[in-house]
Amino acid sequence: MGLSVHWSWLTALSCLLCMGGEVRCDCTEEKIQIQGGNYTLTKQLTIGSLLIYHCLEGYYPHPYLTRSCKADGTWTKPPRRYDPQRCKVVECPDPFVLQYGNVSPPEERYFVNNETTYECYSGYTMRGSSKRVCLPNGKWSGSTPICSRDSGDNCADPGIPAGASRTGNIFGIDDKVKYSCNGKLFLVGSKERVCQENGQWTGKEPACYYRHTYDTSLEVSEAFGSAIKDSLTTLEPLDDTQDGRKIRISKNGTLNIYIAVDISESIEDAHVESARNAIKALISKISSFSVSPNYEIVFFSSEVFEVVNILDFFDNKIEPNTILDKVHNFKVDGRNTGTDLNALFMRFLERISIIKLRAGEGFKEHRHVLMIFSDGAYNMGGSPEPTVAKIKNMVYMNQTAGQKTESRQDYLDIYVFGIGAEIFDEDLQRLTAVGSGGDHYFRMKGIGDLEKTFDKIIDEEEVQGLCGLYKNYEVAEGTRKRYPWWAVVTIQHEGVLKNCLGSLVTPRFILTAAHCFTFETLPEHVKVEIDDAQGRGNGESRVKKVKTFRLHPNYNITAKVHKGVKEFYDYDVALIQLMDDVKISSNARPICIPCTQETSGALKLVGKSTCMQQEQILFKTHCERLNFLTKTGGTVAAKEAHAKLGETRGECIKHALGAPGITTANLSDVVTDNFLCTGGYRDNIACQGDSGGAVFKDYELRTIQVGVVSWGTTDLCKQGNRLVESEENSRDFHTNLFRVLPFLKSILGNDDQDEYVPLQFLSD
Ligand SMILES: *[C@@H]1O[C@H](CO)[C@@H](O)[C@H](O)[C@H]1NC(C)=O
Ligand SMILES: *[C@@H]1O[C@H](CO)[C@@H](O)[C@H](O)[C@H]1NC(C)=O
Ligand SMILES: *[C@@H]1O[C@H](CO)[C@@H](O)[C@H](O)[C@H]1NC(C)=O
Ligand SMILES: *[C@@H]1O[C@H](CO)[C@@H](O)[C@H](O)[C@H]1NC(C)=O
Ligand SMILES: *[C@@H]1O[C@H](CO)[C@@H](O)[C@H](O)[C@H]1NC(C)=O
Ligand SMILES: *[C@@H]1O[C@H](CO)[C@@H](O)[C@H](O)[C@H]1NC(C)=O
Repeated sequence: MGLSVHWSWLTALSCLLCMGGEVRCDCTEEKIQIQGGNYTLTKQLTIGSLLIYHCLEGYYPHPYLTRSCKADGTWTKPPRRYDPQRCKVVECPDPFVLQYGNVSPPEERYFVNNETTYECYSGYTMRGSSKRVCLPNGKWSGSTPICSRDSGDNCADPGIPAGASRTGNIFGIDDKVKYSCNGKLFLVGSKERVCQENGQWTGKEPACYYRHTYDTSLEVSEAFGSAIKDSLTTLEPLDDTQDGRKIRISKNGTLNIYIAVDISESIEDAHVESARNAIKALISKISSFSVSPNYEIVFFSSEVFEVVNILDFFDNKIEPNTILDKVHNFKVDGRNTGTDLNALFMRFLERISIIKLRAGEGFKEHRHVLMIFSDGAYNMGGSPEPTVAKIKNMVYMNQTAGQKTESRQDYLDIYVFGIGAEIFDEDLQRLTAVGSGGDHYFRMKGIGDLEKTFDKIIDEEEVQGLCGLYKNYEVAEGTRKRYPWWAVVTIQHEGVLKNCLGSLVTPRFILTAAHCFTFETLPEHVKVEIDDAQGRGNGESRVKKVKTFRLHPNYNITAKVHKGVKEFYDYDVALIQLMDDVKISSNARPICIPCTQETSGALKLVGKSTCMQQEQILFKTHCERLNFLTKTGGTVAAKEAHAKLGETRGECIKHALGAPGITTANLSDVVTDNFLCTGGYRDNIACQGDSGGAVFKDYELRTIQVGVVSWGTTDLCKQGNRLVESEENSRDFHTNLFRVLPFLKSILGNDDQDEYVPLQFLSD
C-alpha cells in the first residue's frame, strides 16, 4: 500500500485518502463562477459532480455549458484567461441568405429581440414571413422568407433557412437540394430534400441551431403531436357510415411503442422525474385513442433497467392499466456515470427480433415507434448507429428507401429528444428514423415542460366521447380537473335544505340519490352546481338550470315501515335533467357509467364487449377498492372504502341489522342485492352530504362510477372531520349501478326523443 500517486502537499490538504491508497479529492468552488448567472452541482463538490451553468432567458452560458469534477479535484475545462465564463446574449442565425430580395437592417450579428424585414426584388413574390424577430430560444419568429418567380418547375423553391447554404437550384422531379450550416451552427432536420412527383419536397425544412438554440414546448407539441397522431390514427378503428348507421372497422396491425429514458449522472435528477411524468402524460394521451399499443419502457445508463417488458403484452401477462403505476413506482437507483446507448438499442433490436419470430407473417403489420430521451453522451458500448441500422433493416424487411413498392418506412419511427445541460446533437440526430415524415429530433432546454407538451398534443376539449378522463398532474386532490364530473345538488323547499352530491353522467344529466328528494320536491326546488371553467368568477353560470328529475320507479322509502324498516333505500337513484348541455372541457366531463360503449373504450375492451365483461373487470376481487367524494368547503376530498363482494359480502351486510330505525331480524328485508357494502377495517365511512355522490373506480386515467352513496348504519361524522374512518361495526350501503341499468338505459339511452344525445348502451 504505497503512495505512488503524484500529489503535492497542497492538494493533500483538500484530498481524502481512502483505504487502498487511492487519492480522492474534492473540487472547490474557486474560479467557477459565472458573470450574470448561476450554477448548480449534481453531487456537491465530490468527484464526478456535474456543474451546470444557468443564465436568464435570452442569455446562455459561455464559453462552457457544464464542467465536471475530476478525480484529482480539479474541474474539466480550465477557465480561459481572456474569455471569462459569463452569460452572453442569445444570437440568431444570419438572415442574409435570402435570394432575390433584401434584408434590413443590415447588421453583423443579430441578437434577441432584434427585428428584421424582408423584401423581394421586383418580379419576385414572397412566401413566408416578411418580418421576423429574434426569439430567446435562438430562432427567428415566423417562417423562412422565400422570393421566387414562377419558373414552371415541378416543386416550389424550398428556400434557404437562416444561417444555411444550399446547393441545387433546379426543382424538377427527382432533383435534389442539399443544405449545410455556416460557422458554429449545426443542422437539424433534412440535410437533403428531393422533389417528388406530387410537387412536394421530401423531409422537412432544416434549421441551423447554435448550442444555445432549443425547441419551445409549443414547437415540440405541434411537431411531435402531428407525427405521433399519424402513427396512432393509421391503426385506429374507422367510423364508417352505412345506411345511416355507424359501424366500426377495425384495421389490422399492432403498434409497438418503445420508450427509453437516460438516467446516467450527466442527466439531472429533476430531468429524470420530468421525463417520468412526461411518459405518463404521453401514455395517457395515447390511451385516449382507441388503439392499445404494446409498450416497452426502460431507463438506462450503462445498463438497461426494465420497467415494462413488451413481450408481456404478447403473453397477456400484463394488465394495460398497470403500466402507469409501473412507470410511477419504478425506483431509479444504481445510477452511474456510464452511458451505453448501444446496449439500449441492442435491447430494442432483441425485442423486435423476438416479436418478428413470434408474429411470423403478421410481422408485416407491426409498427414500431421508438422514443429516446438522452443527452447522447455515450461513453461505453461504442456507437449505437450500426444497431440502429440493423433495427431499420429488420423493420424495413431489407427494402431500401429507393424501392417504389409499398414503403416499409412507415413502420418505423425513432424519435429522439435531446435533454440535458450539454447535448450531443450530431450523434443523437443520426439515430432518428423518420417514418411518416415530420420532425423526429427535438432539442429541449429544460424538460420541465415536457409533460404539458405531451398533454397538449391532443386537445381533449375537442374530444367528446371520453367519459371519465381526468388529469393527474399539477392537479391537487379535489380540483375539478381531477374530478371533472362532480356536482353539488341542493334541494330547498319550505325551509328544509338537503345537501347532496351528484355526478355528471352525460352533458345533460346528473346522477344522484333518490332520497335527496321528497314527495313535494318540484324541479324549481332543485339546484345543481358545477363549477366548470366558464363559471369562474361568475357565481351564476356554475348553477345549471334544471329541467326535470326522475326517481327510480321502484324507490319507496316507506315500503317496509310495517316490517320494521323505517327507511327502505332499495333503488335509491335519481336522474336530474338539465335545461342545456354542460360544455365539455377538462373542468367538466361526464364520468363513465356501466354498460355503455364509451366505458368499454375506457376499460380497453376491444371488439364486441358485454356488460358482464365490464363487471368482471371492475369487480375483480372480493374486496374491491373504491372511492367516493366528500365536500369540504368549496372543494372535495376522496374517501377510500372497499366493496365486500362474493364470500365477504355476507359478513358486511349483516351489520345492517340493529342500525337505528331497523327492528326487523330479517336481513333480506333491509339489504337487497342492489347494494354494494363498504366499511369496517380502515375504510372511510360516508357522512351526511356525501349522499348521491359517485362511488367510483379509476382505471388508468379514466374514472368509472359503479355506485351511488345511499345510506349507512352509523353516523360517525363530527363537525370538521369528514374523512372519518369506519368503526368495527359501521357499514355503508351504495346503490350498485349494475343493478339499476334498466332505469339508466330508459332515460340516458332513450333515442326516441330529440332533446338530448342518447348514450350508447351495450346490447348485453
Ligand atoms: C440565481 O439563483 C438565485 C437563487 O437561487 C435566483 O433567484 C436567480 O434568479 C438566479 N439567477 C440566474 C441568472 O439564474
Ligand atoms: C439588437 O440587439 C442588441 C442587443 O440587445 C442591441 O444592442 C442592438 O441595438 C439591436 N439592434 C437593433 C438594430 O435593434
Ligand atoms: C387481419 O389479419 C388476419 C391475420 O393476419 C387475417 O386473417 C385477416 O383477414 C386480416 N383482416 C383484414 C381486414 O385485413
Ligand atoms: C435480409 O437480409 C439479411 C442479410 O442481408 C438476410 O439474412 C435476411 O434473411 C433478409 N431478410 C429478409 C426478410 O429478406
Ligand atoms: C310505498 O309503500 C307503501 C307500503 O307498502 C305503500 O302504502 C305506498 O303506496 C307506496 N308508495 C308508492 C309511491 O308506491
Ligand atoms: C325475509 O324477507 C324476504 C324479503 O322481504 C322474504 O322474501 C322472506 O320470506 C323473509 N324471510 C323470513 C324468514 O321471514
